[in-house]
Amino acid sequence: MKSESDPVKSFRAPPRRFSPDWSDGKYERTAATLLPAAQEVITVAAPQPSEHLVDVGCGTGNAALLAAERGASVTGIDPAARLLEVAEQEARRRELTASFLRGEASSLPLADASADVVVSVFGVIFAPDPKAAIEEFARVLRPAGRIVLSAWIPEGPISAATRAVREGVMHAIDAPATPPPFPWHSQAALHDLFASHNFEVEVHERTLAFSAASATAYVDDDFQNHPMWLASRALISDEQAQAIRATAIEILDEANELDDGFQVTSRYVIALATPSG
Ligand SMILES: C[S@@+](CC[C@H](N)C(=O)[O-])C[C@H]1O[C@@H](n2cnc3c(N)ncnc32)[C@H](O)[C@@H]1O
Repeated sequence: MKSESDPVKSFRAPPRRFSPDWSDGKYERTAATLLPAAQEVITVAAPQPSEHLVDVGCGTGNAALLAAERGASVTGIDPAARLLEVAEQEARRRELTASFLRGEASSLPLADASADVVVSVFGVIFAPDPKAAIEEFARVLRPAGRIVLSAWIPEGPISAATRAVREGVMHAIDAPATPPPFPWHSQAALHDLFASHNFEVEVHERTLAFSAASATAYVDDDFQNHPMWLASRALISDEQAQAIRATAIEILDEANELDDGFQVTSRYVIALATPSG
């Protein structure tokens, strides 16, 4: 019997109020920043040419297209229609074969036992119901299938700046406090999440650099283009937005690793789930 402090049992899906449409703005810059993480995930997933790989929350297709380059049969799935179009165009440009479908982690448009590998590069971490998502991953996987996902470790300057922005917006609109997000980075939480589907989980740590000309340039680019910020920006005044922007710049400036230019490093995990026994 698990206690209520258990992260899987005690997790409650948050209200969907801030769920952004990732088609808005220009997610492409972030996709370029995340590409090294997609490469790490695909290295761990190691899809073979005979295998069907499903990329959940594929965005513009970073991981899906890397798997297609390895010759795997690939399906990328995302709720954001514009990002799927970008992924399709990129597949054509690189002369790769991959299907891109509209869908959501807890409702994949795929048959039972039709995939060998499910990957998700910072995608399923946005699903409102982690249990439903993993149940769905288990449904579409063949019996010996594997799951590889990446998730941020919630520490460091990018995490602090993101949290400050979220809290600033919540405060500005007088929104009720929301429960903390599911701890996708935690080996213990993942163990509990996957155990009921008879998967065991290994967690490997990696780092990813975020860079720009300056902390201000980094924040301004995000504030003008990133779908998550644009979804919140519409809810607050110019004055409130300026105060939140200043806080984010201050956090990132203080953590800058470079004398000339801007770079900060975030830690994340790659979790590999395989059938136990
Ligand atoms: C940070 S982006 C990562 C995109 C891509 N994997 C990459 O590496 O660039 C998060 C992606 O998750 C998608 N997403 C958001 N909620 C989702 C959900 N409930 N199920 C599946 N994907 C979701 C978004 O549309 C977006 O494309």
